[in-house]
Amino acid sequence: MRRRRRLYLSVLAVLALLLGAVIALPGPAARADVIHPRQDFLRGSTSGLFLHWGQRTAPAHTSCSGWESDVTSGGWSADYWVQEAQKLHSQYLVLATFHSRLGYARPWPSKIPGSCATKRDFLGELIAAARAKGLKTILYMTDDPQWHDEGGHEWLDSAAYSAYKGRDIDLTTRDGFGEYSYDLFFEAMDRYPDLGGFWIDNDNAYWERNNLYSKIYEKRPNYTLSNNNEDTPIMDMVSNEQKTGMSPAYDYPQAVYTSAPRLIEADFKLPSTGAWWYDGSNPSVDRKLTLGRLVSNAGSSVKALMAETAQVNGKFPANQAAFNDFASGYLGPIRESLNGVEGGGYLHGGLKPGFWNDGAHGVTTVSKSDPNRHYVHVLTPPNTSTLKVRDNGYKVTGVTDLRTGAAISFSQSGGTLTLTGLGDWDAYDTVLKVTTADREGIIDPSSYTMSASASASGHGAAAATDGDYQTYWDSNKTTPVSLRFDLGSAKRVQYLAVNQREDSVSYARSGTEQSARIKDYRVYVSSDGTNWGSPVKTGTLPSHRGVAIVDLPATTTRQVRLEVVTTHAASTDTTRYQRLRIDEAWLGTAYAGGGSTPAPVRYEAESAASSAGSTVDTDHTGYSGTGFVNTPNAAGAYVEWRVDSASARSAPITFRYANGTTTDRPADVIVNGTTVAAGRSFAGTGSWDTWADFTLTVPLNAGPNTVRLAATSAGGAPNLDYLEVRP
Ligand code: GCU
Ligand code: CA
Repeated sequence: MRRRRRLYLSVLAVLALLLGAVIALPGPAARADVIHPRQDFLRGSTSGLFLHWGQRTAPAHTSCSGWESDVTSGGWSADYWVQEAQKLHSQYLVLATFHSRLGYARPWPSKIPGSCATKRDFLGELIAAARAKGLKTILYMTDDPQWHDEGGHEWLDSAAYSAYKGRDIDLTTRDGFGEYSYDLFFEAMDRYPDLGGFWIDNDNAYWERNNLYSKIYEKRPNYTLSNNNEDTPIMDMVSNEQKTGMSPAYDYPQAVYTSAPRLIEADFKLPSTGAWWYDGSNPSVDRKLTLGRLVSNAGSSVKALMAETAQVNGKFPANQAAFNDFASGYLGPIRESLNGVEGGGYLHGGLKPGFWNDGAHGVTTVSKSDPNRHYVHVLTPPNTSTLKVRDNGYKVTGVTDLRTGAAISFSQSGGTLTLTGLGDWDAYDTVLKVTTADREGIIDPSSYTMSASASASGHGAAAATDGDYQTYWDSNKTTPVSLRFDLGSAKRVQYLAVNQREDSVSYARSGTEQSARIKDYRVYVSSDGTNWGSPVKTGTLPSHRGVAIVDLPATTTRQVRLEVVTTHAASTDTTRYQRLRIDEAWLGTAYAGGGSTPAPVRYEAESAASSAGSTVDTDHTGYSGTGFVNTPNAAGAYVEWRVDSASARSAPITFRYANGTTTDRPADVIVNGTTVAAGRSFAGTGSWDTWADFTLTVPLNAGPNTVRLAATSAGGAPNLDYLEVRP
């Protein structure tokens, strides 16, 4: 959080992934657990609240006790931070007080001298308050003494620590500081069994020499370890600090170079200007950028660590406090699309995210408990009322607007889900809930025999179709290179889908940080595996994250060959130049679906119940069925329909009516005995032959429901022709 050391140990990371996959026994030293049960809480989290708050929080205090007394007399309360985290719908807090730029203070009554320690146990209070609400507290630790005299004051007390250890230790050296902080890790572990773990800024040679991380896992098997800015294989999570320069700006995952299922976090500041900590200012919070980051991270299973600048008394400056209040209400109605989901279009399945039609961009999420429940998050709406999303093989059965429950018209063909009649775009995130009936048309990858023209050792072609996203085919830095699918017998082939390893950024971030994704490609087919002829498809893929789908002219063939001519990385990025890695690839024999919005079910008024004195008439034209219902001209006159629903849901329902007078005939809409709309207007339609529709969204139970339209004025109800409800 204070400097950008770029030590991306990609080779080590890859080795670690391999070791993690094949070694079952815990080893004594660094061991990568890409997936481990202790990570369950983090994996189940959407976001965290990051708190930089220490002795140098404005106004800076040089006296430890003076700072502590101002914190307490200012009214600091652990509950406040927990409440604010809950407003952000976050599941964890990271407390950065032992921070190089904030005075290295320990907000607990430490027995180890060396820097400020408080008498009051702020950390313990926070852990308990968070725990009471089901949240976890993670402690930030720094590796770095270089800011020991920041602000012209010496924050580290080598003499006191030396006296405690019985030998001379210089805390301003990296090793001396490493030993001091090493002791603090153990003190924190002893004191706080309920701590969630440590969030570690980079790394320290003393810690590594002394096997700190494996000792932490041994002593506190429930703790997680997060690593800022570098990928130390033994740590559970890699955090990516405040990346900018993406387009769209909110699309944080584009700049992430860690491939899931490794736990990934993105940490970013909510204040638009100023420091990570409170510097006396009240910067604004860009709602669109912040919500876009939160949502696009969720769309890639990346945890969002949202930094806010607590003041000395813990309270946030007004603009951040206001954002939290806003976020609390805003996120509530779309919670199910962000919590309990994985990012869609990656290893968890789901619809294709990213750039859609007509300027649209967004992400998708997919429910962890129901692989047929998807959410399309439209962060940048199209400039039309139509949205087209690649279906990734899912057969779509229904689409609704998550906020309103309104049904969205859809059709599906050629691998694309088309949603029409949109346009009431939310300012930040329009969420469309898509239900599906599984994937169809995918040729079972276990039936392929794979081969490649080049492969790195241990990363043969078979890994590209083994169903495991931790294994991958690696071209051994060879381009052009071919990956070949033998289907065993001739089959109809319609498209090729590829998930490349998400271990590079998706754009040219710098000369040495580039995308390793496929650029120019050719696809060939063959019946004998010898004669390939000319390509059936050539093209260029954009450098985008998530599944890439290459449509082919449908053909029946036994052999398919993907030739990758070039990748996006320039030669300046020596790590990624000509490097091609494919986690998983598959072939589609046919596109999914062909489904479209189910037709609404019409319930004729003449078949419904109605109040005494009502008649079924036919003396005006334009009605459907065998007539329409004419209720008495009296308040309370009604027609009541019975409507069956397959599920409990909120559904739009439409009344067809005519009012040949020029006087409004208001009526209540009463569903299952509850008035859901009182005195809704049924104004004159011009004549008794002119019928109009009135639609509103109502809650329906699974099974039978009653829907009554009851007049509230002496004119009675308008003439009623029917009620329509989408199944
Ligand atoms: C007229 C009209 C009826 C209508 C009635 C009313 O009689 O023909 O169809 O129901 O007015 O005022 O309700
Ligand atoms: Ca694989």
